[in-house]
Amino acid sequence: MRPILAALLALVIVPSAAFAEDAALGEKVFVKCKVCHQLGETAKNGVGPTLNGVVGRKSASVDGFNYSAAMKNSGLTWTEDQLSEYLKNPKLKVPGNKMAFVGLPKPEDIVNVIAYLKSFTADGKKTQ
Ligand code: HEC
Repeated sequence: MRPILAALLALVIVPSAAFAEDAALGEKVFVKCKVCHQLGETAKNGVGPTLNGVVGRKSASVDGFNYSAAMKNSGLTWTEDQLSEYLKNPKLKVPGNKMAFVGLPKPEDIVNVIAYLKSFTADGKKTQ
């Protein structure tokens, strides 16, 4: 019985121990973003633009949000790579942008928060 249990446990534990993206952990990271950004079907622009469907969209493309010239001129598309660089150090990635946030130092926080962002469609529906 014991070895079987151990084998089963290993099956459960190994995937989560690997460096996999995790939207549930990302939701916790998003607490840091929530003061300025909203997600979901009732999301509105606040201090920052709504982030529904942000992964894959062009930067500075939310209607009605007053972006900085720096963000408007950045010409970025928010692929996961571009987002990772931005979230690590917003000021370095887009100099002069007005997001007053120092960045996320931990790579796993970045991966997880992007997984969480990806779980919302452009109209704010949750897919996961
Ligand atoms: C203090 C407020 C604040 C916090 C905290 C904050 N942001 Fe922002 N964010 C902004 C503002 C303001 C902008 C618009 C920047 C500009 O126009 O220069 C922005 C822009 C962005 C953009 C680009 C959006 C677009 O439409 O091009 C992304 C992506 C983003 N933030 C993600 C995040 C994430 C993820 C977090 C948390 C880890 C976060 N932000 C934390 C205020 C904030």
